[in-house]
Amino acid sequence: MSDAAPQLVDDPSTPGRSVPKKKANAPFLAHRNSQAARGAAEAAQQQAGAPQRSLAARILKWSVVALLLAIAGGQFVAGDPIWGYRGKYVKKHYWFPPPQRQFTPAELALYDGTDKTRPIYLSIMGQVYDVTKGRRIYGPGGPYDFFAGRDASRAYVTGCFSKKSGHLTHDVRGLKGEELRALLDWRTFFDIHDDYFQIGKLSLPKVDTSKPPPPPCASPVGAVPA
Ligand code: HEM
Repeated sequence: MSDAAPQLVDDPSTPGRSVPKKKANAPFLAHRNSQAARGAAEAAQQQAGAPQRSLAARILKWSVVALLLAIAGGQFVAGDPIWGYRGKYVKKHYWFPPPQRQFTPAELALYDGTDKTRPIYLSIMGQVYDVTKGRRIYGPGGPYDFFAGRDASRAYVTGCFSKKSGHLTHDVRGLKGEELRALLDWRTFFDIHDDYFQIGKLSLPKVDTSKPPPPPCASPVGAVPA
């Protein structure tokens, strides 16, 4: 029997603690060693990933702060969180477009509002819009019912609204640059209108170029887009 004190070794997982180095402790020390090694590896891994993650988190955080400030500023300054922006990007239908279909003139004519069970569609420059929410305006007897169920692009800028004027047509021959720009403005009007949305396109019949474009009418309403 020996009086010699058992040799002590550091407990790898508890700084400052020592344990006797004897055979019986070997499994315990091996287990502690592997735990400590795993802990060190994880710490090293975390340290390597930390700067990248914290930069991304900071960018995200400041983006959210900037967005909230812009919204609050808009509400405070302009009384509108999106600063009065009313373009296509804030339209529900821009993000969730309804299924688009191709119309013939005869098909489009079915949507002129006379059949109350159907929606009301109109076309401008070959683009068909659902204007059902404007039934009061485009439905039968409404002030602009002649625009429904057809493409009357020419009339939007000439102000010739009677059927016999021949201006309720997509034939825009002879219109000046300024008038064509006004026509584009009307199309934008339907594009960004809160209640209207594009539903498809119209297969426009070929314009008969053997005939002259409709002559100016005697009493055009004459105005530019609202
Ligand atoms: C080229 C000439 C014109 C064209 C193409 C035109 C076209 C239109 C269209 C498409 C609408 C319906 C807008 C909507 O869906 O909300 C509208 C509304 C209106 N327009 Fe015109 N317009 C013209 C001239 C005029 C003129 C000269 C006046 C005034 C004398 C006028 C007065 C109105 C009014 C009051 C409304 C609102 C109708 C309502 O909400 O009941 N328009 N216009």
